[in-house]
Amino acid sequence: MEFSIKSGNPEKQRSACVVVGIYEPRKLSSAAIAIDRGAKGYLGEILRRGDMEGKTGSTLLLHGVPHVACDRVLLVGLGKEREFREKEYGDAVRAAIRTLNETGAMEAVVCLTELPIKKRTTSWKVSQAVTATMEAVYRFDRLKSKQDGLRRPLRKLTLSVPTRADLSTGEEAVRQGLATAQGVSLSRDLGNLPSNICTPSYLAEQALGMAKTYGFKTEVLGHKDMERLKMGALLAVSRGSREPARLITLEHHGADRKTPPIVLVGKGITFDTGGISLKPAAEMDEMKFDMCGAAAVLGTLKAAAQLQLPMNVVGVIPTCENMPGGNATKPGDVVTSMSGQTIEVLNTDAEGRLILCDALTYAERFNPEIVIDIATLTGACVIALGHVASGLFSNDDALARELLAAGDYAVDRAWQLPLWEDYQEQLKSNFADMANIGGRPAGSVTAACFLSRFARKYRWAHIDIAGVAWKSGKEKGATGRPVPMLTRFLIQRSAARSQR
Ligand code: BES
Ligand code: MN
Ligand code: ZN
Repeated sequence: MEFSIKSGNPEKQRSACVVVGIYEPRKLSSAAIAIDRGAKGYLGEILRRGDMEGKTGSTLLLHGVPHVACDRVLLVGLGKEREFREKEYGDAVRAAIRTLNETGAMEAVVCLTELPIKKRTTSWKVSQAVTATMEAVYRFDRLKSKQDGLRRPLRKLTLSVPTRADLSTGEEAVRQGLATAQGVSLSRDLGNLPSNICTPSYLAEQALGMAKTYGFKTEVLGHKDMERLKMGALLAVSRGSREPARLITLEHHGADRKTPPIVLVGKGITFDTGGISLKPAAEMDEMKFDMCGAAAVLGTLKAAAQLQLPMNVVGVIPTCENMPGGNATKPGDVVTSMSGQTIEVLNTDAEGRLILCDALTYAERFNPEIVIDIATLTGACVIALGHVASGLFSNDDALARELLAAGDYAVDRAWQLPLWEDYQEQLKSNFADMANIGGRPAGSVTAACFLSRFARKYRWAHIDIAGVAWKSGKEKGATGRPVPMLTRFLIQRSAARSQR
């Protein structure tokens, strides 16, 4: 999809379609008023006849509107004006794009980007329009024997901004929105691929491919390397599987080599059966999404590279399968992590923290400014926050605030949960330094507490994306979250840095 920015009168835009908003009940937005004036009251008349109420997500496509330069006018319902906020804006854009994609118009001018939203800038509206558009046109049909392609798909969108002074801001926002959206798409693709295709080796190949395209420095460690590094926790998870484990690192160097990097660590369990602590059969297929943390790291690095962010970012991806088998780790087994701390594996299904703890220790060698891990870590997080917010934990409150703000801006929100000492008690083991589970109460918190014991040497945050990384049911599929939050976080940081 191609995006451009324009300012000027909507009624004078030569285009296959111009898209304007209608508030409920039957109230024209300012771009709609401009068209209505040019068309001598034609839109107002249609609304009076009762063809469009303005409900959120509704659309009405008009042909042959008199005295306007474009072939079609698409009216998009916005809901009540007083209730028109971030979510309604995204819904309106997605509804418009879905309709446009099904009409013959292959390009359009979208005026929704001029709608006022409290506290949101033109820049925000433009980048959100880009990400929402890309989300709406996303398809994953490469595994179907026939792709039912659209006959005349939408190719080019022009987003309108209020004045000529907004043009360059708009263009920068398109760039950021597109980079984010491409990171999201990559992350969704990887998440949606089944575990017989998306194996640890496949993820490593993808990383190597990205290294070629974007100039990342990449390293892929195999079983022997990890043995040498004494990654006993990661290898304990991989033992039951025939697929070899990998530890992937990618480095984006946008700043001086000596500048400490932001390290992103992503959980890459390409399938989580639970191991010997086997999961029940229902919906087990969704455990192919257990590598969405890894996918988010790759997606965010892709966005960072496309934006040529003037900072150093490192991705670390521990990846393997969690399988039962004759050689699998058994409940009660004690393993020694790379940090030297010993772990009693009371439940082999709490495997994410086992691969992450060794990756967190490994991250020390990059002398990181900050380490952020991203993981589909606990079912308990889904119970706590549902499918709306990611769970955020941090040993540094300023870092937590930065991530929360980035999530709020990107409409990819997180909610902070406590990491208090009081919870550490639940991880006591009679046989090792700690157990890998802390019982049912506060399951997401004790998982984060476990990780915190391996992240004492740097500022660290943990994002539990178990509830947000994919959707179940009819719309089953990966979401690409939290790539928007992480990309925004990096953009924010690189901007703050260059101002200093
Ligand atoms: N990958 C799962 C977490 C998960 C479960 C994410 C369901 C999304 C939906 C993780 O490896 C896991 O199995 N966690 C266990 C931990 C428990 C054994 C302490 C869980 O949450 O049940
Ligand atoms: Mn598990
Ligand atoms: Zn898992």
